[in-house]
Amino acid sequence: MSDRNDLIVLRRVSKIYRKGNENVSALDGIDLALPARGMFAVVGPSGSGKSSLLHILGAMDRPTEGEVRVAGQVLNSLPEAGLTHFRRKTAGFVFQGFNLIPNLNALENVMLPMEFYGVPAAERRQRAAALLERVGLAARLTHRPGELSGGEQQRVAIARALANDPPLLLADEPTGNLDSKTGAMIYELLKEIARERTVVVVTHGEALAALADRVLHLADGRLATNNLERTTHV
Ligand SMILES: Nc1ncnc2c1ncn2[C@@H]1O[C@H](COP(=O)(O)OP(=O)(O)OP(=O)(O)O)[C@@H](O)[C@H]1O
Ligand SMILES: [Mg+2]
Repeated sequence: MSDRNDLIVLRRVSKIYRKGNENVSALDGIDLALPARGMFAVVGPSGSGKSSLLHILGAMDRPTEGEVRVAGQVLNSLPEAGLTHFRRKTAGFVFQGFNLIPNLNALENVMLPMEFYGVPAAERRQRAAALLERVGLAARLTHRPGELSGGEQQRVAIARALANDPPLLLADEPTGNLDSKTGAMIYELLKEIARERTVVVVTHGEALAALADRVLHLADGRLATNNLERTTHV
């Protein structure tokens, strides 16, 4: 089902949250392989495990069972320091609420993830400016988040997620706080980014799912069996 070129390979991945005396099963035996390029939409009802899946792909959480391999690294066996490195280098994350640092301007927000790698400041600045230009914000470099529209803030967040050139971009309902027209622009941007890396995006919107190369349907922590097929569009 998977081959050496896949960026992501999950085998029988389960996630059980322990809440007091209760066990909450969020993911239940997920098998999944995704290639090193393309846009993949994750859809499903509230509580079906979409965010849990994304957190595991981004090493923000560990599975209870199963194997998670991303970009050749088996995340299960990585120590905490390895996971931190993975989060900075291999997986960029975009959130519904943008999560920018309010007192830093757009350029500084995008430069921040590069600081861990000893990149000289001038180079960080240059690369951040190029990324912001790429997302259409060349004229907003010194604006702080509070001085930007929602769509602009999300574009800064996307540029920041690409700062260390990760092969994987994860986005959890990135247009949830945006109007549909602005959301459509964000989707187009993600689709363009997906030409050169793997983009996994959780969405409630049909429009975004329609742009995806494949739609992964989650229900009660399980993937619908048709997720192995390439989705055909009408
Ligand atoms: N930290 C946690 N502790 C306990 N249970 C959790 C935790 N995080 C999620 N859950 C539970 O796991 C299940 C899956 O949650 P998840 O957040 O992955 O769903 P989702 O598909 O992203 O939903 P939504 O569309 O509402 O964002 C839910 O039943 C949820 O209540
Ligand atoms: Mg969620």
